[in-house]
Amino acid sequence: MPNLRDRSISIVTENQSDNGAYVACPNFEQYKYCWLRDGAFIAYAMDRCGEHDSSRRFHEWVGRVILSQADRVTAIVRSIRGGRTPGPREMLPTRYRLDGTRSDDDWANFQLDGYGTWIWGLAEHVRMTGDSGFLDEASEPVSITVDYLTHCWMMPNYDCWEEFGDRVHPSTLACIFGGLTSINRYLERDDIAATAAAIRQFVLDTSISSGRFIKSVGNNSIDASLLWLSVPFAVVDPADPAMEATVREVERKLHHSGVHRYPEDTYYGGGEWPLLACWLGWYRCRAGEPDRARPILEWVESCANESGELPEQISTHTNAPEYYLPWRERWGEVATPLLWSHAMYLVLNSELSSR
Ligand code: BGC
Repeated sequence: MPNLRDRSISIVTENQSDNGAYVACPNFEQYKYCWLRDGAFIAYAMDRCGEHDSSRRFHEWVGRVILSQADRVTAIVRSIRGGRTPGPREMLPTRYRLDGTRSDDDWANFQLDGYGTWIWGLAEHVRMTGDSGFLDEASEPVSITVDYLTHCWMMPNYDCWEEFGDRVHPSTLACIFGGLTSINRYLERDDIAATAAAIRQFVLDTSISSGRFIKSVGNNSIDASLLWLSVPFAVVDPADPAMEATVREVERKLHHSGVHRYPEDTYYGGGEWPLLACWLGWYRCRAGEPDRARPILEWVESCANESGELPEQISTHTNAPEYYLPWRERWGEVATPLLWSHAMYLVLNSELSSR
């Protein structure tokens, strides 16, 4: 079998549509869509591996999708400016069909994190390729997205696990903050800088309890996605005391061999996610402790099946084993290969190779 780096690149490449969309998982009915969250991290991973054409095609696809939503964003912004908060169904969706159309079903679709992550990924693409002309080409969808996020960031919306839509989540705010600050390296707009500063302050004021970051405003539990506050979105430094305390809690409550999403997670029993294990490793690298990331990379490699495919989660150590079978009966085997898992493997692999 080829090494997992090469295999991961080919799995991503094979599952990118001609128009640029990345399917979340080709073999799992509910995941045959393109999520902006998964897609932006996949594009970032491809950029880090020198596969810039793939990343560019994804960003072009998102650009077209956002342009198709321009009138909706205008209406949303007009409502908010007029003092009316739009309902969740009026907002932009978290995922699109591979042909770029919306699928307005019962899915918990109002999530803001993917839009922030998209502009972060685009800015990273420009940084890694040096192709600032691409930013001119994408200027209209970028400004629509910035307009959307600067008006909506404080609204409660579903978190990155598509749950708890009545709350505000620090990791979602981190994605928005990271997107706005990264794109503003090129745009240099004072209003964007002011919104980013306000988001950061809001997180610091509302999302720390007992010296560490919390899952959601008003919910003091822990969640592995809180790692995103430092890596890659830089709301705080990896060495920030609240961040370090958060990571200690992630290790204490969520890290076994891999990393669980949060202690109360029951999706497929709430197993360990290779992509979150990679995140902990990525954090360790950025915190100057790459040696603590190497065993994580090895564990993720051991999660690949005989075809070199990584699943969304591993079910050998679960939070709530009694929930595993009901989910399997409902939706089938755990989604495999999950492109986002491969992407985060590529990120950690490249992080460790550069040291
Ligand atoms: C996860 C999302 C992810 C989606 C597609 C869901 O189960 O909670 O974070 O975007 O799957 O991979």
